[in-house]
Amino acid sequence: MTTLTTTVSTPWTEETRFNKTRFIPPDAIFALTAEYLQDPFPRKVNLGQGTYRDGEGNPWVLPSVNRARETLSAQGLNHEYLPILGLQAFREATAKVVLGSELLPSRRLSLSGTGALHLAGLLLRVCQSPLPKIYIPEPTWSNHHQVFSSLGFSCESFKYYDHETRDLDIESYYSTLRNAEPKSIVILHACAHNPTGCDPTKEQWREIAQLMKARQLFPLFDAAYLGFNSGNYDEDAFAIRLFVGEMKMEAGICISFAKNMGLYGERVGCFMLATDTKEAAVNTQSMLEMLQRSEVSNPPAFGAKIASQVMGMKDLKEMWFADMVTMSSRIRSMRKALYEHLISFGAPGSWDHLIRQSGMFGFLGLSPEIVLKLKDDYHVYMAGNSRISIAGLNPGNVEYVARSITQCLKDSS
Ligand SMILES: Cc1ncc(COP(=O)(O)O)c(C=O)c1O
Repeated sequence: MTTLTTTVSTPWTEETRFNKTRFIPPDAIFALTAEYLQDPFPRKVNLGQGTYRDGEGNPWVLPSVNRARETLSAQGLNHEYLPILGLQAFREATAKVVLGSELLPSRRLSLSGTGALHLAGLLLRVCQSPLPKIYIPEPTWSNHHQVFSSLGFSCESFKYYDHETRDLDIESYYSTLRNAEPKSIVILHACAHNPTGCDPTKEQWREIAQLMKARQLFPLFDAAYLGFNSGNYDEDAFAIRLFVGEMKMEAGICISFAKNMGLYGERVGCFMLATDTKEAAVNTQSMLEMLQRSEVSNPPAFGAKIASQVMGMKDLKEMWFADMVTMSSRIRSMRKALYEHLISFGAPGSWDHLIRQSGMFGFLGLSPEIVLKLKDDYHVYMAGNSRISIAGLNPGNVEYVARSITQCLKDSS
């Protein structure tokens, strides 16, 4: 769904009903990309936005996606509306791949299309009164607070990461869950925590699930990196299957196909709700349909058709799984290369945290001043909290990036 806002100021108007509007600063990551695109420096490096790039720094259309596109155009594509809840084949294939075919029949599900986190928020807002609190890890993906506070939820951050140890602060996590207001919602990054790259171990996930169950907390999974993190979809879906399958908990799961299928601009996602009763599944499905109708009427079709083709055809699904291995392996090798260059150039400080982390991002632990200097003096662009998209590194720029970081740190020490 594309919504364009065009503001025209009319000099002949003396009064405006918009006097009380506030200026909202542009989104930091999108603004950084715009700045990068304007930069004429030939060796500039963009490590800001989390988009996969191949070994030459170019966007990569997955071979499985290319094949699905060919099949679809051979079949003859049309541009008809999808049903309000989205393409049924896509929704069924998504549920199967996320939950695994064994788990699927045993749980009640309602499913819907794109804008998954927002749709989840809309549903949770009408299902619980008074409005539950939402616990959000700190740090987190930059959009979480915005999505839920704009829906009227009170969002409470809890300490997820310890900047001293540069690791997950699991004790603080447990303590938050033990003391959380019962029936609240907790945002869980299913894997590849953005921005820290630090996930709980399987044992820690078990403890988290138990604590949440005991306190009747509702797990809302944000799952944007399944299969993209480790290269193994089942491994990355571990936490979701633990909560929904083993622990038999009700849960919301927000799936994105932006990263793991490279369908960024096609806006393909799915909100999945596991409920305890069939009646709740039927009723929530009908509510999702009503909410979706008033939001986007019906979700975009093209990307959903591609994703459904990829997941629904055995050979294409195998190709997709291999594509995820290609992407995650290249990211892992670049993470290692950056680490090794930083060590060999004698970059001040310890860098072990970089290779302990996993997924698309590296959380470097640099000060905002160093981040700014890297951009201004070396044309290396990264998020203000020093999160880098490792996918932006390649054999042609990783040494330059490591050298720039090293030089910046040495100059300022
Ligand atoms: C944790 C997390 N959730 C959700 C998303 C959103 O993905 P989409 O592009 O499908 O909206 C992202 C994308 O960066 C993300 O990192």
